[in-house]
Amino acid sequence: MKTYKIALLPGDGIGRDVTEAAKAVLEKAAARNGFSLATTSYPWSCDYYLENGSMMPGNGIEILRSFDAILLGAVGWPRKVPDSVSLHGLLLPIRKAFVQYANIRPHRLLPGVQGPLRSENFDILCIRENTEGEYSGAGGRVHQGTDSEVAVETSIFTLKGVERILRFGFEQARARRGKLASVTKSNAQRYSMVFWDEITQRLSQDYPDVEVTSYHIDAMAARMVMAPESLDVVVASNLFGDILTDLGAAIQGGLGFAASANINPDRSAPSMFEPVHGSAPDIANLGIANPIAAIWSGAMMLQHLGEAAAAGKVMAAIEATTARGIGASPGRDKTEAITASVLSALD
Ligand code: NAD
Ligand code: IPM
Ligand code: MN
Repeated sequence: MKTYKIALLPGDGIGRDVTEAAKAVLEKAAARNGFSLATTSYPWSCDYYLENGSMMPGNGIEILRSFDAILLGAVGWPRKVPDSVSLHGLLLPIRKAFVQYANIRPHRLLPGVQGPLRSENFDILCIRENTEGEYSGAGGRVHQGTDSEVAVETSIFTLKGVERILRFGFEQARARRGKLASVTKSNAQRYSMVFWDEITQRLSQDYPDVEVTSYHIDAMAARMVMAPESLDVVVASNLFGDILTDLGAAIQGGLGFAASANINPDRSAPSMFEPVHGSAPDIANLGIANPIAAIWSGAMMLQHLGEAAAAGKVMAAIEATTARGIGASPGRDKTEAITASVLSALD
């Protein structure tokens, strides 16, 4: 029987609840589809940091490299560890080290879920650049604590980085409804964003079957609310993609439904699957986190591993659950009840 090695990083807060739920569903789906998951869970988190002085061991990346995929809950507990420390000690280095340059985030309404918009027929795939841009980490502070203090944080856009994410976007659009929206702010940022727009134009010649449109990020934010059905694949830089995908989560009914995959398309290192949401300290330990985003992310993991049939069954089980109203309204059902419903829908 085929066995996939999966690293579990539950992390902090509700990350722990939702990874446990996803693990149970994925293990059952595997057993029903003739493969198995060998999972190893690592306690790397803010609690781990308080005990050990780092978010993961020095060889953490090497440990993770031997896995077929990583399933992550959420990282961050700002009351104990500054976010700038915790996220730069665990989540962000993994995305960079494993060249997970494509962060894929689907936004559509699950059956039975009431979104905040009049429009219900949207199906958007956001593709966020995941290794550079505004998150490059190039910068510094000088004269700290004096009135001459300076802070610099520079976005870095490379030809290689922009080209590969745009090509990825074109390929996804080609495999879907043939429409690509490229998002920049080239009216204000005249170097990096004009560079991005030029590469979009150049690559479009290789994809005559894809209808590509460039939008400014501000106009895109409005379009996602006013006319989301006009969009198919949306590709954006790291920070723009981050912000647009919380907006995407909102229009699909909330962060409890927004899934994501950090993909290394070359498969030279493991890819990582995680919900879009964070550790939600406001509802941690209440047992009411919606696990659907994490379970959907798990389905994306099965798809990436080549287990499309099992991935389809997990999606069908999620949809059967929300169609019955379970997990469909934020805060109403317990994590355990939603998970139990997805598990039984797998039968
Ligand atoms: P958040 O996503 O944790 O929470 C935002 C709001 O959405 C909260 O009201 C929360 O209760 C709600 N929410 C989120 N997920 C939910 C779910 N599954 N079910 C029901 N409600 C849900 O964002 P935040 O409050 O800005 O961040 C909290 C911490 O998480 C911070 O430390 C932040 O840096 C971190 N964070 C981590 C990740 C990640 O690890 N991928 C992502 C985002 C934020
Ligand atoms: C996300 C998160 C992270 C990001 C944070 C926690 C650093 O918001 O995955 O969307 O900005 O990438
Ligand atoms: Mn985010």
